[in-house]
Amino acid sequence: MNNIVEKDGKRFVEHEGLLVPLLFAPLEGPQTWFMEYEGQTDNLFYGGARGGGKTECLIALAAKYGHIPGYRCLYMRRTHPRLIQSVERARMVLTNMGWRPSENSFKHESGAIIRYGHCQYEADRFNYQGHEYQKILFDELTEFTKKIYEFMATCCRSTIPDIKAQMIGTGNPGGVGHLWVKKMYVDRCKPVPIGGKVYNEEFDVTWQPEAPGKVYTDEEGLTYQFVPAKVFDNKYIIENDKAYVLRLKKLPQEVRKAHLDGSWDVFVGQFFGEWNPKVHVVDSFKIPLNWPRYVSLDFGSSAPFVGMFHTVDPYTGELYTYDEYWAKGQSLRYHAAQIALRVANEPKIDMIIYPHDMHRRFSKEDADFETMIDTFKRHLTEELDKLKKPKHLRFDKAVSGPNTRVMGWNLMREALAEPWWRITKDCKMLIQTLPYLIHDEKNPDDVQECDEDHWAEASRNGLVHIKRSPTETKGNKYEFKKKPQRRMTRKHWMVM
Ligand SMILES: Nc1ncnc2c1ncn2[C@@H]1O[C@H](COP(=O)(O)OP(=O)(O)O)[C@@H](O)[C@H]1O
Ligand SMILES: [Mg+2]
Repeated sequence: MNNIVEKDGKRFVEHEGLLVPLLFAPLEGPQTWFMEYEGQTDNLFYGGARGGGKTECLIALAAKYGHIPGYRCLYMRRTHPRLIQSVERARMVLTNMGWRPSENSFKHESGAIIRYGHCQYEADRFNYQGHEYQKILFDELTEFTKKIYEFMATCCRSTIPDIKAQMIGTGNPGGVGHLWVKKMYVDRCKPVPIGGKVYNEEFDVTWQPEAPGKVYTDEEGLTYQFVPAKVFDNKYIIENDKAYVLRLKKLPQEVRKAHLDGSWDVFVGQFFGEWNPKVHVVDSFKIPLNWPRYVSLDFGSSAPFVGMFHTVDPYTGELYTYDEYWAKGQSLRYHAAQIALRVANEPKIDMIIYPHDMHRRFSKEDADFETMIDTFKRHLTEELDKLKKPKHLRFDKAVSGPNTRVMGWNLMREALAEPWWRITKDCKMLIQTLPYLIHDEKNPDDVQECDEDHWAEASRNGLVHIKRSPTETKGNKYEFKKKPQRRMTRKHWMVM
């Protein structure tokens, strides 16, 4: 235990020769609201601008029930190095608890425990199988995937009457979890403005103070609250670290909106920076009969199975993605039946492009087993026959190989930049997810895999395959034959 010292009527703790103020007192505004909503809702998130005092508050909040025997709290970061940083900060605040390095936990004399843990890979979540905590806290929740969050929620229970089981997070916009956190909290629990905008003369910045809005209750009766954070709410930063605010202010416009204003509509690390809904999203239209039509798939059983529908204007070479199908947790037969319903309504489908992993067999050992794509084809044909709409369908395997992901993403960025790719309003999921994909941490040319990448993956499979062969490209323009053939042969389509 650390030494407690009294000085000028305030209590400090001696930590490595420094005097650190002992008690955490929440600042007025968001920190106070965050503390108030502790114990009120099933899910709570405190997020937005950087420097708002989120981490400090979360560390202190963990210790709230330290005096109750049986209290168990888990504090999470995505990776171990980041967790160590948090532990170091926590040791300065949680001075009434002993740190036990071998157990990665603080222990109170009451027996209460605050464990520090990480979950770098999604599979690491199973390390927590069977654990039980009343509070699970995530610092930088947007670094986590929804899969991890949902699994951890199964470890969040309480049998202590005074402690409500609660999932609590803090975080900035951006990161692999940006979209699901935005959807789960920010979009559902709209903050309310307090008074008008405030002008800060010193920093020459105008900002809008906000308070948490209404608690949101979902279909299952679970409750959610979002406490918005702004850097101007943290007087410690505003008074002691002016340079920090000035640095945030100097950031490029978009990044500044996320980091200084805490805006969730833009963020750092967006992969498709070319995305502009005003240019790329168009109204649905009647597709002329002579335009070729394609379906491109992305396969998932627990993850969504996606089918994107594309067409190309044969005279301009512009590509339109005009419809989408998706469902999750269903059999191939179900997906085939659903796609058949749509295909039956189409005058024709020139090609179905499927990902190479559908060439897998249901049983790896047994070569007699059908591949997934064969099963899918069989069901699709049967369903179309049932609907009395038999169709001649051509199946092509999407290009695969070591660098195809990166090449494909590049092609999509080109397509948006030029632009020769447009998406109709009917493709709701693609429009919702594409802008929020981020760069992979290890390979910035790749998209970080996440819960929401399936619509983009299916589109990528399609775009790469549909793009014209360079031999038929004149200059930078894609020139299509004036009289497109009824059925395309391989020669007409680029195979990379
Ligand atoms: N209530 C508080 N009392 C004392 N210091 C605080 C308080 N809230 C925040 N701070 C200080 O403000 C700085 C930024 O806080 P931090 O929690 O790291 O912000 P965020 O996690 O939102 O980026 C830190 O140096 C922290 O110690
Ligand atoms: Mg922080």
